[in-house]
Amino acid sequence: MTTEGPAVSLSHVTVMRGARLAIDDLTATIPSGTVVGLLGPSGCGKTTLLRSIVGVQANVQGDVTVLGRPAGDGSLRRQIGYRSQDLSLYQDLTVVENVRYFSALLGVGADQGRALIDTVRLGAVVDERVGRLSGGQQARVSLVVAMLDEPPLLVLDEPTVGLDPVLRRDLWDLFAALAGGGTTLLVSSHVMDEAARCAWLLLMRRGRLLASGPPDQLMNDASTDTVEEAFLALVGRGDPS
Ligand SMILES: Nc1ncnc2c1ncn2[C@@H]1O[C@H](COP(=O)(O)OP(=O)(O)OP(=O)(O)O)[C@@H](O)[C@H]1O
Ligand SMILES: [Mg+2]
Repeated sequence: MTTEGPAVSLSHVTVMRGARLAIDDLTATIPSGTVVGLLGPSGCGKTTLLRSIVGVQANVQGDVTVLGRPAGDGSLRRQIGYRSQDLSLYQDLTVVENVRYFSALLGVGADQGRALIDTVRLGAVVDERVGRLSGGQQARVSLVVAMLDEPPLLVLDEPTVGLDPVLRRDLWDLFAALAGGGTTLLVSSHVMDEAARCAWLLLMRRGRLLASGPPDQLMNDASTDTVEEAFLALVGRGDPS
């Protein structure tokens, strides 16, 4: 499915989690067909924002529109591939059993899963139980599951945590290739150097959007050479505490 306009529009989104203001009046747009990075320190609200977009977050105020529909709309279920931070895999099933299970749920042929397993280089451990894999290996299994039915929007919560540099690079190459084919990828990270692999960034802090736009523009606006420096400059400007 191709969409006209942005993949996601957020207008005055506020989310309370318990007594905490996790998202604070956030307005932003996420362009389609590109790799968008959601960056910010631990606890700034990345997961909460992604959950609001996927439609699984309670107490969302404001307007969240995803692929032209209100977030959580039933028609979006097959349009979004979501990889949550806690992976959501069956620990006592093997890699291939997990992939087969989710393929069956989605009505996707076995070939697709097998090809993705090879892409993320898990071929050697397909018959290992997921609970016995390393964190990085498990992260890759969950990526396979999110990508199984080639949804137009992939929402990936810190997909590269725990991966070695070569795999991280390969995954970012894969994300770029998917975006080249028209997929929108919304990828969170608290590692600022991953910003360079994104075409568009949302910088968050304490539930608020500090800035958004292409990395070059953010660096240019802040007169810095790196996104990390731009982030720090924005923090210094906006918040004396
Ligand atoms: N289940 C919950 N109940 C209450 N508060 C929560 C819950 N989950 C998160 N929060 C709070 O909401 C805020 C945003 O958390 P969130 O998980 O969205 O941040 P994050 O940017 O994803 O962090 P990280 O990089 O560590 O994953 C934090 O202050 C956190 O303490
Ligand atoms: Mg998180």
